[in-house]
Amino acid sequence: MSMRFSYSHSLPLVFLFVFCSIPTILTRHNEDPTAKTMHDFSGYPVDEPPHSFISNSLSVDAQTLQKQINELSTFSDTSSPSVTRVLYTEKDVLARRYIKNLMGLAGLSVREDAVGNIFGRWDGFEPELTAVATGSHIDAIPYSGKYDGVVGVLGAIEAINALKRSGFKPKRSLEIILFTSEEPTRFGISCLGSRLLAGDVALAKALKTTVDGQNISFLDAARSAGYARDEDNLSSVFLKKGSYSAFVELHIEQGPILEEEGVSIGIVTAIAAPASIKVDFEGNGGHAGAVLMPNRNDAGLAAAELALAVEKHVLESGSVDTVGTVGILELHPGAINSIPSKSHLKIDTRDIDEKRRNVVIQKIHESAITIARKRKVTLSEFNIINQDPPVLSEKSIIEAMEAASKELNLTQKFMISRAYHDSLFMARISPMGMIFIPCYKGYSHKPEEYASTEDIANGVKVLALTLVKLSLH
Ligand code: GLV
Ligand code: MN
Ligand code: MN
Repeated sequence: MSMRFSYSHSLPLVFLFVFCSIPTILTRHNEDPTAKTMHDFSGYPVDEPPHSFISNSLSVDAQTLQKQINELSTFSDTSSPSVTRVLYTEKDVLARRYIKNLMGLAGLSVREDAVGNIFGRWDGFEPELTAVATGSHIDAIPYSGKYDGVVGVLGAIEAINALKRSGFKPKRSLEIILFTSEEPTRFGISCLGSRLLAGDVALAKALKTTVDGQNISFLDAARSAGYARDEDNLSSVFLKKGSYSAFVELHIEQGPILEEEGVSIGIVTAIAAPASIKVDFEGNGGHAGAVLMPNRNDAGLAAAELALAVEKHVLESGSVDTVGTVGILELHPGAINSIPSKSHLKIDTRDIDEKRRNVVIQKIHESAITIARKRKVTLSEFNIINQDPPVLSEKSIIEAMEAASKELNLTQKFMISRAYHDSLFMARISPMGMIFIPCYKGYSHKPEEYASTEDIANGVKVLALTLVKLSLH
């Protein structure tokens, strides 16, 4: 049975946990080869026993939330169960409208910036204090699922609704942010909205000349969705450091750990360092029958060899925490009887150790040069699109999330995020924390992605209670 959260009854408890909760740091033996590096990286234990504390449930309307998640998934350019929702497309615009409507129904004041980051604000009773923010994204890579990002947006709206139903009044204002283009699908740059919010001057400049795969400019695409009316003014998106006193993102884990261990809540202590690289090779092409093998300079084979080199350099790091993926490999002209004259790769590599990740990037670059020389093709582009450092969550937010899940009697575990999130960039301007919930077999970025209604509701409750603590702080 769910009990309604009562502000007046819970206030002493809230203060008790905000001010008195000290995380228990335990050193435990763990067979998992990733455990040591995770602990070293984040400074938090990777495995902690569950705690049971006072039951203090919020009345989260899990059925309505699930219905909204299902409804939002219908704004897709591919058929169910897959979801494809790419920045500034018609489906993206419709989905945004759906979210703004829900924000309005929740009584939030809604504003949008020049690139379509959407903000829904609930004024606190001390509105001059810096607000506490939460949020995530609703764009979905091709043929993905319906939970990635969405849980952190619709879940945040439901968290606010639940707090409102409980009679709670925030001291600091609470703000939900829907971030534009967390996924790099259309313009090749991940976390576009949050990078700009964090004041990325180089990106604001680059976006004036950025085009997509169909040669549509970022600004034209943004305008077609109703944004970027003043094209010289993307810097209007920048937020000052300290604009928020805290930022918390709720997200599915996108990995198998919580489900495998039967733990309800992941408390993210750090986010790994992502990088992406764009590579182009050019050869002479020619007829697949007539040009003899010794006379070829096949740009496709150069790309294939580089893809294998990526795997080799990643494995050479000796750590399971180093990963690399060639997710895009395109050949031109793309005809069975034509030797590829151009090839294009996009390489994603990440690590919890930034230096080790950078060594991999260096080796990939050296391989690209060597392969081009050996195969007599031109390395026409080797462009590191982004090379981001990892970040740590803020201790006080970790403590608030930990206290919230303990009060809700939910099992929890400290963990790192191997996926990147808008939180990585919000951490540049605000103290940051993330709440993870389990997802089926850790599946993500594919149609089989799934999180149970119950796990989502648990995440929303932890988010709501964390917002309470941070708002009163
Ligand atoms: C986010 O979608 C990621 O690729 O980590
Ligand atoms: Mn994603
Ligand atoms: Mn995501």
